[in-house]
This record gives sequence, C-alpha cells and structure tokens, in this order.
Amino acid sequence: MNIVLGITGGIAAYKTPELVRRLRERGADVQIVMTASAEEFVTPTSLQAVSGRPIRTNLWDKEAEASMSHIELARWADLVLIAPATAEIMARLAGGGAPDLLTTLCLATEAPIAIAPAMNRVMWANPAVQANRDMLEQRGMRILGPDVGSQACGEEGAGRMLDPDDIAAAVCDPEFAGAVVDGPLAGKTVLVTAGPTREPIDPVRYITNRSSGKMGYAIASAAHAKGARVILVSGPVMLQEPNGVEVQRVETAEEMHAATHASIVDVDIFIAAAAVADYRPADRATQKIKKTKDTMSLELVRSPDILASVAALGDVPFTVGFAAETERVRDYALGKLENKKLDMIVANRVGSDCGFDYDDNSVEVLWAGGERAFPQMAKTELAHELMDLIVERFTSTRGPDTQPALSIVSIKD
Ligand code: CTP
Repeated sequence: MNIVLGITGGIAAYKTPELVRRLRERGADVQIVMTASAEEFVTPTSLQAVSGRPIRTNLWDKEAEASMSHIELARWADLVLIAPATAEIMARLAGGGAPDLLTTLCLATEAPIAIAPAMNRVMWANPAVQANRDMLEQRGMRILGPDVGSQACGEEGAGRMLDPDDIAAAVCDPEFAGAVVDGPLAGKTVLVTAGPTREPIDPVRYITNRSSGKMGYAIASAAHAKGARVILVSGPVMLQEPNGVEVQRVETAEEMHAATHASIVDVDIFIAAAAVADYRPADRATQKIKKTKDTMSLELVRSPDILASVAALGDVPFTVGFAAETERVRDYALGKLENKKLDMIVANRVGSDCGFDYDDNSVEVLWAGGERAFPQMAKTELAHELMDLIVERFTSTRGPDTQPALSIVSIKD
C-alpha cells in the first residue's frame, strides 16, 4: 500500500516518526509531505530516516519535481493520510484551496483521503471547525478521531490525535478505503432515494421539480459513516457521488420505483428523500411537439408511490418518509405517516426562502408516540442528527429484543 503521509503544524507532529514506523511495520510504503509549519515540530531529517524516502516540503522544488512530480505522487498514492490535521488544513481542504504541495496533492489525487485531526479542545468544538469536518466527511474523507484526554496545552477534552498504532491499524485494514466496518449500522443495508425525477413530455421537454438532492446525498453519506452498506437511488442532480456509497442513477419515477424494488429485499432501513413527481404525461411524444395551437393540454397519470409500495411489503424495512410542505406542515406530515404506514416522517417547510436547493434546513420528525424538532442547521449536520435518531428508533423497534412496532393508529390518541 502506497501512503502519502501529510504532516501539518500541530504539536502532535512529534508522534509522526512513530506513526511512520507503525505504517511500515504493516507493509506500507510511506512518502511524507510536510507543510512549512510542520517543520517547527518535527525535523525532515528524522522523518527521512524512518520513512527511507526523501521528504517533500515544497511545490516548487525543481529537483524533487523532476524525480516525481506532484501529479505523479497524487497517482502513486493508494491513500493520502493527513496526521496530525490542524484546523487550518481542514479549512483549506473544505475550501478547495491549493497554496502548497499537500493541498495541491489532495485536489489532484483520486485516492481516498483520511485525516486525523489534532488541536485544542475548544478549537475542535468551534462550529467553524465542526462545519468543515462535516463537509469533508460528506465529500467522502475519513475522519479518524480525535481522541479524548489530556492535551499538550494542559487541558482535558476531545482533540488529541489518535494513537499512532490505532491510526496505522485503521488505515491498513483492507476494508478501510471502501467501507466503514464498524458503527451502529455495521452489517445493515440502507437504501436512500434522492433528488427529483424527470418525466418526459417529448424528446426535449420534461416535468420536474426544484429538489437539489442535497438532503438525500447527505443522509446517504451519514448512513455510510455509521457503518451501513448504502445504496443511493438518485434522480438527476449536480452533486458529487458520496464515497463508499453504491449509486444507481435513474430519471423517471417508474425507473426509481424499479431500481428501489430490485434492491429492497436485503434492505434494513429505507429512507425516501426523493421528490418524486407524482404525475407523468400519459403519452410521451416520440418527436418534438410543435406549437400548432394557442393552448394545449397535457394529460397526466399517477406515478407509482415508491414509499407506500415499500411500506406495504410483507417483510418491510424500517421506512422513513419526507413531507415537504408549504403549509400545515405538521398536519400533512402526520397524514402521510398514517396513510403510508411509515415508521417515521421528516417534515419540512419548503418555499421561496427555505427547503429545496438551500444548504440549511430545519425539520420536525414524527413517529408513532413521539416527535423531535431539529433547528435550522447545515443539511450535512442535520443528516448526521437524523441518522442518530433513525438508528435509535430502528434499534428500539427492530432490535433483537423488541416487541413489534407501535401501532400507527395511536398517533391521534
Ligand atoms: N414518494 C415516493 N413516491 C412517490 C411520491 C412520493 O416515494 N411517487 C415519497 C417521497 O420520497 C417522500 C414522501 O413520499 O418521502 C412524500 O409523500 P407524498 O405524499 O407523495 O408527498 P408529495 O409528493 O409532496 O404529495 P402531496 O402532493 O400529496 O403532498
């Protein structure tokens, strides 16, 4: 395994010679790339001695670039591991900047990227750092730690770099790049529908809606981070595919229905985040429709309700629906929870200033006998919170020692 180890300027950098040794013991070839501030904490000489390779520090080093350019290095890597990762490198990665060799490499590589954050506990808890963490995770980066304990600054809390041996063991695990194998959903399969559907009128026109797919993609990523195998059945969207998730692209409601049912047999949790077009043109013209009359009518027919059809299966997975409403959000959501016989519904208001295509969302989640409100937050963060709640409800209703799920009828009691 070829590992590019990026070392950034935090006090935990003094542990990196040990990390290099642990990685090499597990058979990895390690090429070190240091930032300028990392050199304040650990010397290139010691790192060269333990890694057995010249250290790369500078994007503009002509000699080093001649022997292996930064693009060749990006291709050489099977994994880019940044340890310790400072708040600064996390911000740079989140922003997509490339002012130095390490950040340039991260943009240029197709290899998975893992980071082991290390910083003071207050810095780690800062909302800006947490937002960057969520964004990096949503883009598929693996976040290792941080650990909780005593810190170099004399404080106690979350922010210590994970033990070098634990980092080495995690990244050298053959399943590491492809799938998270631990977490509360390890061994479970989650199917998420996301995005809009497109219902063709003729070869050049279609009916669709304003859904961006952001919420569904964030949920798929959060489910993967909890250890699940995740299948994402996606309508047409402009989003990057989340790492480690099996993406099936579809266009119409009928295709989404077919793709969902083709995989549903092994699914433990079904989350319908897609904004499926409820109606489609009764006929799809084979040629472009010409404007021959002053008015025209389109006959529309109902499309299959994917969520209701899954909830009606014999061996039904834990089903979660979404209700995007412009008014009477709670009433309509409760109606859908009951009518479609769901385990849970996520209700949100949509309109000209919220909902579709926004990066933030606030929702109310309802289930038989309970509810929880989530205030306005980034969809990536909300996805993690929702998955925590879904895991909680899934475990208490479908866990090994549970009674059958509560009757939906009790909602109105
Ligand atoms: N849904 C689905 N298949 C459809 C329509 C909706 O799976 N053909 C799912 C959505 O993914 C969402 C939930 O059902 O989880 C929304 O319920 P629905 O009653 O269909 O909402 P709307 O489409 O907004 O319908 P209405 O216009 O009646 O409010």
